[in-house]
Amino acid sequence: AAAADGGPPGISFTSVPPSLAPVADRVTVPAGYTARAFVAWGDPIMPGGPAFAGDARESAAEQALQFGMHNDGMHFFPFPRRDGRENPEHGLLCVNNEYTHEEVLHPDGLVGAGYTLAKTRKSQAAHGVSIVEAARVRGQWRVVRRSPFGRRITANTFMRISGPAAGHALLKTREFTITDAATTPTGGTTDGTVAYGTINNCAHGWTPWGTYLTCEENWNGNFGATGALDTTTATEVGKLNRRYGLSTSGNGYRWHTTDPRFDLSTNPNEPHLFGWVVEIDPFRPDSTPVKRTMLGRFKHESVQHVVDDDHRIAFYMGDDERNEYIYKFVAKRRYNPALRAANRNLLDEGTLYVARFDSDLTGVWIALAPDTVGIDGVKLRDNPNFAGADDAEVQAKILIKTRMAADAVGATMMDRPEWTGARPRIGGFEEIEVYCTLTNNNRRGTSSASANAADGSTAAGSARPPVDAANPREDNVYGHIIRWREAGRSVAATRFAWDLFVQAGDSATTKTAKPSNDYRGNIADDPNGSADYGAPDGLWFDPFGRLWVQTDQAGNAQGDWVHIGANCMVCADPATGATRRFLTAPPNAEVTGVTMTPDGRTMFVGVQHPGEDSSAANPTQYSNWPQSQWSVESDGVTPLPGGRPRSTVVVITKDDGGIIGT
Ligand code: FEO
Ligand code: CA
Ligand code: CA
Ligand code: CA
Repeated sequence: AAAADGGPPGISFTSVPPSLAPVADRVTVPAGYTARAFVAWGDPIMPGGPAFAGDARESAAEQALQFGMHNDGMHFFPFPRRDGRENPEHGLLCVNNEYTHEEVLHPDGLVGAGYTLAKTRKSQAAHGVSIVEAARVRGQWRVVRRSPFGRRITANTFMRISGPAAGHALLKTREFTITDAATTPTGGTTDGTVAYGTINNCAHGWTPWGTYLTCEENWNGNFGATGALDTTTATEVGKLNRRYGLSTSGNGYRWHTTDPRFDLSTNPNEPHLFGWVVEIDPFRPDSTPVKRTMLGRFKHESVQHVVDDDHRIAFYMGDDERNEYIYKFVAKRRYNPALRAANRNLLDEGTLYVARFDSDLTGVWIALAPDTVGIDGVKLRDNPNFAGADDAEVQAKILIKTRMAADAVGATMMDRPEWTGARPRIGGFEEIEVYCTLTNNNRRGTSSASANAADGSTAAGSARPPVDAANPREDNVYGHIIRWREAGRSVAATRFAWDLFVQAGDSATTKTAKPSNDYRGNIADDPNGSADYGAPDGLWFDPFGRLWVQTDQAGNAQGDWVHIGANCMVCADPATGATRRFLTAPPNAEVTGVTMTPDGRTMFVGVQHPGEDSSAANPTQYSNWPQSQWSVESDGVTPLPGGRPRSTVVVITKDDGGIIGT
């Protein structure tokens, strides 16, 4: 229920209404707030970067000097002031560029005049991470366009692999010489400690020692096969391909037809170099990104750290696919706040756990380690999927095949785990309480129940488990948010207590509820009207304790979304559940990515893929955002009447200079 005084403590803006059909081609924020475009796909972010052309004529080399496509998770790292305090008006904004729409990226679309290596290279250059120097000058936030910190990390950036799986035979791939003109096999094999590039960087994390973490999510979709593809359960690679969803044509990219590195028929181990968390030092533009294998290999959504009173540190992570799992990594060594260099390889040693949510509202963290006994009574070290010459090899295989290890130990299959977030331990709140969005699941419940097989043989996303306490709705359309409290306020705990923070839904729906599925949900009333939402995805606590939730649904205000409208970002009080709607998005755009300056007076919010799947036949989905909303150069967006829609980071300030959300 809403607080009687008109709102929960610290959240006092008036909700914006839902953006109903036809969805306005704009971002809307509450009265008293201003939103402007900060940086959009194609904006120059480093020396030599050309201005956005507007017709997608940029080459791959030019794209590699510009902001990438389809921004997602992000974090603002303030520069220190001379007195050592954090500067709230100058810092580095690290932003994921999750994927590309080839139709928008190339002047003539995906195929057009033909598919070429030049298109592959541009697509690869639009993926990865963009590091943007951000400064507030005379009140206006600007990209420092010739910044020495400006950096693009792409699908071709050289990286190191570290942790227990580094050097394993499954990570040894064909060796290539990569130039703009070709990807040429050298005839050699890598040693399993190096990789090129990061792709499908969905959400993110950061470390208290000032590094950025980018998470590789739907990387399987960028691969394909020009010939045979093994997805049998008869071979190790076939089983991996099956469990991680590799296929002949992937998600429609054609990289594999021009770049042999992504051709599964001839380079079958390359996918094993993806599915990791990658650590990047944004303050050292020449630093080599590191793939940290101890955090497991799956479709990483995000990674949220918590430091406890004993200086132990854990990282909480979801695997976003239907009926996958929630994980945590606990570092072996303590976090050292006094010496940055002491934390350099903290992510290489520790224990990876997977969560089991029991019906009595308690749960267990199960270690994915050689001596853990699976539900078949066999230790992982004796399971044929992970058997190896020694403990080191067993652990390496457990990490490369994380999903299969989680299957073997009987973890709880969840309704698509998206972002994790930790409630700040402030204002007398002492618990270690972590939240995770479970966005939806159209393969949950009904009579034809099937689970991920304990032997790891289930094809990705193909199980259909029965409803359970933690995932209680059949064919979960609107999603929910689960949270748990670590026993003993220790991040190293192996036990926790959990509950559902909210079940999202449409409180005005006329859709007939199934016995296990009340589509209305239980979002706490907003005193200014409904704050209904569905498909929660982005989830983030600001440093003041407000919970921000961003959604990823169709975005067209049709069908299941006719009352909820376009995608949105809401703000909730974690203590009461009271919720207000802060922002609505353009048609068919997802709201994803949110961070603040340390003073709370500037918020950056990501708007991804405006007008996705728009066409002349689907005019209600058409978007020309952000040009449709801001048309002057001083907003940082080149005017493009009738131009291409652009994923964009929006900067939001309060007109009275106050803290965002108040
Ligand atoms: Fe890229 Fe699970 O969202
Ligand atoms: Ca997401
Ligand atoms: Ca999503
Ligand atoms: Ca997305």
